Amino acid sequence: HEEFTKVRNILQIELGRHEMDTWYFSPFPPEYNDCQKLYFCEYTLQFFKRKEQLQRHLKKNELRHPPGDEIYRKGNLSFFEIDGKKHRLFCQNLCYLAKLFLDHKTLYYDVDLFLFYVLMECDERGYHIVGYFSKEKCSEEGYNLACILTLPPYQRKGYGKLLISFSYELSKIEGKVGTPERPLSDLGLVSYRGYWTRELLKILQDESKQFVSIKDLSEMTMIKTEDIISTLQHLGLLAYTKGAYVICASPELIEKHFKAAGSGGVPCDPDAIVWSPYD
Ligand code: COA
Ligand code: NA
Repeated sequence: HEEFTKVRNILQIELGRHEMDTWYFSPFPPEYNDCQKLYFCEYTLQFFKRKEQLQRHLKKNELRHPPGDEIYRKGNLSFFEIDGKKHRLFCQNLCYLAKLFLDHKTLYYDVDLFLFYVLMECDERGYHIVGYFSKEKCSEEGYNLACILTLPPYQRKGYGKLLISFSYELSKIEGKVGTPERPLSDLGLVSYRGYWTRELLKILQDESKQFVSIKDLSEMTMIKTEDIISTLQHLGLLAYTKGAYVICASPELIEKHFKAAGSGGVPCDPDAIVWSPYD
């Protein structure tokens, strides 16, 4: 892909109260080629070359939240579901913004086929974007997530795990096993591995469930069997005998791995989701 070898053009952005140094190239329209810094409106994600243009935009626009439907609220955190077809401009702007921090993921600018789940933090000034993930409306491969991003000022605070948990909670409501689209970045893989490990070990910690099959685990968690196998293999909790996988884990080993798997991140409360699947 030609795009990935291109030189980083926009070096810095301003978004709400945050200034961020960018990580990668993002294919902004050609008229932005000559600037190194862009000013984003945190509510519409429209971007400008000069701060005065953004300020004028903010005066004209009363809206202090993103488009779409608020489908989750817990404390000061909300998820908005935004349909790429209904809110094309917002979603395209989100993709431009996200690509500044995403490396090898192919980003789809044909946003019509995707839903965007945007995590927002709310305070007295309005809603502020923390991160998001996108999801194909219909995935033949069973993907429940396409791209995932926590914006740099919010990284390493447990929001990535909240985004991942949320994607699986939606899969549970749909009754469909899901998996993230590949390739995963290094940080993406670590985050997923942490989530999978904790979810599976939470079940295996329960003595009465020590003899569950991989298929059972998949039905309980909506994690794809391949991801369960790779996680348990990575932990050394899987044996292959007589043509089948057997989970072999002592309570001590499970406890040890559980402790090593890190924190669960910001928790997701499934009861706070108000949502029905896309159809
Ligand atoms: N260095 C080492 N480990 C890190 C890390 C870093 N900078 N950032 C996250 N991790 C690991 C840790 O194991 C962490 O768990 P812990 O804090 O309990 O140890 C785990 O990832 C998840 O941390 P969390 O705070 O929940 O995630 P996050 O909000 O930082 O978001 C990503 C994780 C992947 C979404 C974020 O790093 C990101 O947006 N990266 C850029 C885009 C990207 O690569 N997306 C994935 C494409 S597949
Ligand atoms: Na990536």
